[in-house]
Amino acid sequence: MITRILGLVVALLAANARAINDPRFDGKTGDLLPTVKIEAPTPASSDVETRVWVQFATPGGKPARDLAADSGISIEEVMPGQAAGIATPEAVDRARKAGVKILSAITLEQRFGSLDFPEKDSIYHNYGETKVELEKIAASAPDLVSLFSIGKSFQKNKDLFVLRLTRGAKGAEPSTKPGIVFLGTHHAREHLSTEIPLMLAKYLVDNRAQPEIARLLDTRDIYIIPMVNPDGVEYDISDGKYHMQRKNMAGVDLNRNYSYGWGGPGASDNPRDETYRGPSAFSEPETQAVKAFIEARKNLKVLLSYHTFSELILYPWGGTNNPIDDKPAHDAFVAMGAEMGKMTGYTPQQSSALYIASGDTCDWAWGSALGGKKIFPFTFELTPKSMWGGGFYPGPEAIATTFQANIRPALYLIDLADNPLRATRGQSAFAVTPAEPKAGEALQ
Ligand code: ARG
Ligand code: ZN
Repeated sequence: MITRILGLVVALLAANARAINDPRFDGKTGDLLPTVKIEAPTPASSDVETRVWVQFATPGGKPARDLAADSGISIEEVMPGQAAGIATPEAVDRARKAGVKILSAITLEQRFGSLDFPEKDSIYHNYGETKVELEKIAASAPDLVSLFSIGKSFQKNKDLFVLRLTRGAKGAEPSTKPGIVFLGTHHAREHLSTEIPLMLAKYLVDNRAQPEIARLLDTRDIYIIPMVNPDGVEYDISDGKYHMQRKNMAGVDLNRNYSYGWGGPGASDNPRDETYRGPSAFSEPETQAVKAFIEARKNLKVLLSYHTFSELILYPWGGTNNPIDDKPAHDAFVAMGAEMGKMTGYTPQQSSALYIASGDTCDWAWGSALGGKKIFPFTFELTPKSMWGGGFYPGPEAIATTFQANIRPALYLIDLADNPLRATRGQSAFAVTPAEPKAGEALQ
């Protein structure tokens, strides 16, 4: 009897694993699992024993990175003459056949050993702790902060939380104040990208009496979504070791699933790949929730999506090498990038200068989210700079130092949300470079 029950559970698990690997799977586990409630297992391609850390040569620089990205490798580290990332063995083969010179490929397990979030990194917030922290922040300043959910994750048991900070409007109430949204953890293993927006929320609340912060809370509408991919986060830290999970638990790279340029280069159509774009644009509940949230708020002017790692500040486009064709806006991106580069030590550049990738949050935010009303989007690749600094798992020490580097750019962007074009003239309260004098104004 026991073995029969076990056999049934194994069969159900296997059926479910097949289902979530199937790109046509509609996401409903209900009829597959009538009684036994389990966490959907991750697709086999996520196993640390099979996926590899691959290093490849980039003699000509970017074109080789574009080829590798287009073959389904998620590029994580860019160095002179070479780059590295994570891939399935099939994607490595594809890259090799496409002409990429592979230098080495060892399994994630061999490369990283077994890593443990629970003990050494327990200071990081898992889904439940993030929820509690958000509730605490909201309760500590009910006149300024409200907390709500914009939908459920793929596994349907976790909320996608939004913390809103502004004086005078709560929850989903509309506002005409200039708005900004901070997003964390599209990619599950990038845990630091949950911590930074969480700390930003706490910082704003703790410092709400300071005049400059009070001004921002009075005049701006600030949204913080610290964990876009909670299923992936929980899976990544399950059973006491890291799983190096990037995608959501339907096996889709959420940062290739947005509609603008969806299906273009640098986003795989193979469900096993790290950069699988999904069966269609906005196929995933997580990206659908972000889409609906943003489209319902025409006052949003700036977006910052936190990722790790590499210490970069990226602006559109990501899906093409062309610069955006709006000169004043392009100048503003360059000015903001340079300014925030000084604050952080991070390198500002157009996203596609790293490698071309289609369907990311920022291309959509700039290209189509609010139609003609453009949102100025940035992707930050946070600490560390390289694998030597710990890669995706830089340890507890990285949290405070990374936040120190990132508080000022966050305030700077909140301030500029009324009109990001002001950046070109250096007119922001939080800029490090003094503003240029207006034409005709005497220098003091
Ligand atoms: N590293 C992130 C990712 O792979 C950011 C990509 C930004 N876009 C780009 N075209 N490089 O999703
Ligand atoms: Zn990422």
